[in-house]
Amino acid sequence: MEFYITRSLRLLSLLLMLAGLGWFSAAAQTSPSHNPQLASKELNARVEALLKKMTLEEKIGQLVQYAAGYATGPNASNLKYDELAARGQVGSFLNVVGAEATNHYQHIAMEKSRLRIPILFGQDVIHGHRTTFPVPLAIAASWDPAAAELVARYGAVEARADGVPWVFSPMVDIARDPRWGRIIESSGEDPYLGSVLARAWVKGYQQDDLSKPDSVAVSVKHFVAYGAAIAGRDYNGADMSELTLRQVYLPPFHSAVDAGAATLMSAFNSINGVPATANPFTLTQILRKEWGFDGLVVSDWGAVSELINHSIGDGPKVARKALEAGVDMDMEGNLYGTVIAGQVRSGKIPESVVDEAVRRVLRVKFALGLFERPYTPEGPAYDATPERRAAARKVADETMVLLKNDPVEGVGPLLPLPAKAKKVALIGPLADNQRELLGAWAVTGDPKYVVTLRAALQERLGDRLLYAQGCDLLTGEDASILKHVDFEGAMAAGDHSPIPDDAKTIAEAVETAKKADVAILALGEPANWMEGEAASRATLGFTGVQQQLLEAVAATGKPVILVVLAGRPLELTWAAAHVPAILEAWSPGIEAGDAVADVLFGDVNPSGKLPSSFPRSVGQEPLYYAQLPTGRPAHGDLSHFPQNPAEKFVSRYMDQENSALFPFGWGLSYTRFSYGQPSVSRAEVPVEEVIASRSKPVVTVGVDVKNTGRVAGTEVVQLYIRNTAASVEQPVRELKGFARVTLAPGEQKHVEFPLGFDELNFYNAGLKPTVEPTTYKIWVGGSSLATAETSFQVVE
Ligand code: BGC
Repeated sequence: MEFYITRSLRLLSLLLMLAGLGWFSAAAQTSPSHNPQLASKELNARVEALLKKMTLEEKIGQLVQYAAGYATGPNASNLKYDELAARGQVGSFLNVVGAEATNHYQHIAMEKSRLRIPILFGQDVIHGHRTTFPVPLAIAASWDPAAAELVARYGAVEARADGVPWVFSPMVDIARDPRWGRIIESSGEDPYLGSVLARAWVKGYQQDDLSKPDSVAVSVKHFVAYGAAIAGRDYNGADMSELTLRQVYLPPFHSAVDAGAATLMSAFNSINGVPATANPFTLTQILRKEWGFDGLVVSDWGAVSELINHSIGDGPKVARKALEAGVDMDMEGNLYGTVIAGQVRSGKIPESVVDEAVRRVLRVKFALGLFERPYTPEGPAYDATPERRAAARKVADETMVLLKNDPVEGVGPLLPLPAKAKKVALIGPLADNQRELLGAWAVTGDPKYVVTLRAALQERLGDRLLYAQGCDLLTGEDASILKHVDFEGAMAAGDHSPIPDDAKTIAEAVETAKKADVAILALGEPANWMEGEAASRATLGFTGVQQQLLEAVAATGKPVILVVLAGRPLELTWAAAHVPAILEAWSPGIEAGDAVADVLFGDVNPSGKLPSSFPRSVGQEPLYYAQLPTGRPAHGDLSHFPQNPAEKFVSRYMDQENSALFPFGWGLSYTRFSYGQPSVSRAEVPVEEVIASRSKPVVTVGVDVKNTGRVAGTEVVQLYIRNTAASVEQPVRELKGFARVTLAPGEQKHVEFPLGFDELNFYNAGLKPTVEPTTYKIWVGGSSLATAETSFQVVE
């Protein structure tokens, strides 16, 4: 007996010692539940009571999801969905939208299936549901969490009215390579901005209460590192250190989970050789044990069966691996439904593993109130009401980023245009194209509601507006290449009939420009063909012959305003050198034309800032401001500052500057803002105090910001830090705070940024979040090039 006690004590002291040495990372701890609703005793008692009654087939039924409507991926299942629902062998459908369609299946489940478990309908609601808002990358350019929350709120209300209580949003993947088409669905390159927005999206959808009849459960996606696809090629693997995974790619997911996200979606990619959809380290260790996530994990479309292509086993084996790793529901893989039961019966998979996954599905169904309110009342048909339009316009207004507005000789800055502008030529394939302006992932949006640039400018200018399309987004050759793309689902390429003779139409556009005083060019890339999923690009220029059109119009000598309409940073190097005014308008949704016109005419002073660095050329990608330092920096301290062209043995390209053409955080206004000298509330802080602080601030950085121009404007004040002496090297700059500040002409405000452990910590070599004695440099300003500087020290 004594021996056992002594041995146990020894073991305990050994464990304590190892813990002290950091051998067990934060990883080994188990956090409390992330969402009190899902953890509620009452809810879980209902789950257990139901679970007890279920047969193995009924349990597995809860773990499968099929696309019973349109397809948003390859190899869509074609099963007898009514029969599956009647047998209780389907937990969820996706892409079934509308009260009538969802009620059809729900009636079968609630009236014919033995246990009357409601079906959970899921759907991609990416930038609005029926009311199409700007794409998520544009929303990130607003740097306004309230905008993300508003878009989510509209999406939730409209999705719920359509029988959909579960949305596959927000996408919180960090995207640092615009070759990857899905950058459009992301919040861009920065973990801090991404984490703030992730929280706002979740709040807007779930309202901190899943049981409200107009709340929807989110599915935060794609877990994880999907945005780090090698070479920007969609579905490609990601390879990175665990440190980078934790410091850059995981934070927005953690933030969404902390905000109570009910579900997550596993990603298609592998991470360091282990597919994300069969990855116990990310799905169980980090997500469930470290973060306390109690919700449901659904696979991405077909991602479970695609594990066979990842070469980690045959069907039964990969299904087992995915389930055991923590993927609870198989979206359109049709593997859980076919190969799990046999393995449970043969003892290969413990039934407890199935039970746990079923619990997670049922928890979400109970929390959403589906057992009490399974059906959706038929409502009036959707209409883009003035109230919805106003919301879409307000958000779109905030997303516009003025990249350049240089004075033109004899005219001054071209923007804003005077209300009494004389003759304006509007030119380009995106000036009057409703479908393309809607954006890449607006499956339930309707192009008919889109106000085009042509319509909006026509209303303001009447016959002072001249118009020429100039060319199409693609040439005949591009279109025939893309016609080989074999997909007929909701994201199908659509019909493009390129103009047969674009030399002629470009010449016509040139003539139109010659008749006007100023030319507005609306150029970009086809949202439907070349943005979003499975839409990676190896080049980042305007598609088709748009560049020729731009150059031909610019050659007339008429002043040119370029409006860029695209869901990714494009290469604007020629334009930046030759065009005086450039407005990045993204894919603005139904209020596209009105929002662009608001900014062009100065009714709205642009306030958007880039959430993603714009490259000089594609060869710089992946390009992001928060780079790690190098021993041979090209230009002093900051790798994104203009470099000294004379240096040879430094980290540089021989044929191009390292810096972005337009950096992260960049965006101009029609007014000017000046920054005072930033101050810190304390010059020194003891390291123990920072470590103990967690979310509480230990230092406050303050700065005076003044509007020194003649019109009111909103500035996104940004705070960047640099840890100058860490045990693991830290980025040359990192965003750690921002605030949208509206100032009348001449007005000044004092802006404060609290900093504590949350902002100052980093992962050390032992993968523990930590703060060490060091000096933090601080910059405050209107972009990642901010120069107003201060610092403080963390001391022993
Ligand atoms: C995408 C997901 C999406 C799912 C359902 C997949 O192809 O990667 O983002 O939610 O399809 O449409």
